[in-house]
Amino acid sequence: MTLIEEIHSTTPTHRETDAGGSRGLRVRGLHKVLGGRTIIDNLDLTVQDGELVSLLGPSGCGKTTTLRMIAGFLAPDAGSIQVHDREVSALGAEKRPSAMVFQNYALWPHMTVVKNVGFPLKLRRLGKKEIEQRVDAALALVNLLHHKNSRPARISGGEQQRVALARALVQEPELLLLDEPLSNLDAKLRVKVREDIREIQQRLGITTLIVTHDQDEAMSMSDRIAVMNAGKIEQFSRPAELYSRPETEFVATFIGSLNRIEGSLVNGAVVPGDDVIGIRPEDVVFTLHASFDARPAVVERVVPHGHFHEIYLKRDDATLRAFASGLPPAPGDRGHAAIQKALTFRQGRLVTAAGVAA
Ligand SMILES: Nc1ncnc2c1ncn2[C@@H]1O[C@H](COP(=O)(O)OP(=O)(O)OP(=O)(O)O)[C@@H](O)[C@H]1O
Ligand SMILES: [Mg+2]
Repeated sequence: MTLIEEIHSTTPTHRETDAGGSRGLRVRGLHKVLGGRTIIDNLDLTVQDGELVSLLGPSGCGKTTTLRMIAGFLAPDAGSIQVHDREVSALGAEKRPSAMVFQNYALWPHMTVVKNVGFPLKLRRLGKKEIEQRVDAALALVNLLHHKNSRPARISGGEQQRVALARALVQEPELLLLDEPLSNLDAKLRVKVREDIREIQQRLGITTLIVTHDQDEAMSMSDRIAVMNAGKIEQFSRPAELYSRPETEFVATFIGSLNRIEGSLVNGAVVPGDDVIGIRPEDVVFTLHASFDARPAVVERVVPHGHFHEIYLKRDDATLRAFASGLPPAPGDRGHAAIQKALTFRQGRLVTAAGVAA
């Protein structure tokens, strides 16, 4: 099989939850109370075999707690956890077919990189030769062969994070659990390592659940994203769908940038009302010339973001943010702004996602 065929053969089909097919991970009714508070609230999640799913949500929503229960480091109060249709919730972490990379990597400071990565295999009493070969292969995957004999304190945070990843991959787990594995890398390395993780994950076809609060990271590497809020999953969708059809106001606000306005849209104008409309800045078009669906607008502020500018516009009915590429307008410029698309929410739930008719 060529690499491309291999990748295609492991690309998941996005069949929904209980539709059958091979399930890498199936979590049902997961529940956890900590310090008298419900932290994980009856959570269901299914990851197909070979699929990469991100668990995305704000700090404190319960991502790490969920992952630790799936990995076996924290006992749930209730719930079932199956890996490839085998119930694992009664097993200790070391008996589960999963490997976890922790948010703080948890490397052993007194052991060299090689010893750190080989440790899980030593625990399983594999032969010296096999351990050596598998550790070398894992270190090659994360580009760290040259640091074999370094101790964690002597390598950078990003390198430590990659050692932790190698220590998980070396176990050839059926299920890979990653808790913010890129948090300590600089912006450039972050993109490189996330592409590497995605490539390795697809090549090996490992079912993967990755925790992040970085939406860009989740959007760019996931087959599907589970957006989590206060111990529950708000929406579980493919990245593009999450962005264009967010089912709740929370998801719409959390993913991407949004103009949130209380009211409704009538003939392209905002009027007071009980609904909430959400408009992506790229769906606000500012031009210097009048057009049939645009209303007069003045530029209040321009914020540069490198490859685009964020433009704050004031119309008589609303204040709107727009994105502009190319030469930006200047504060005080007068022109016209049109709303091309809007999401409408009623009591926090999406009721329409539509282009705006003139
Ligand atoms: N042992 C504990 N006792 C009491 N509360 C706890 C305990 N462990 C976690 N919590 C609480 O559970 C909530 C969820 O924590 P968790 O670590 O799962 O969040 P998270 O989504 O991973 O956040 P972050 O993005 O900041 O890592 C937090 O409010 C936390 O304070
Ligand atoms: Mg966490």
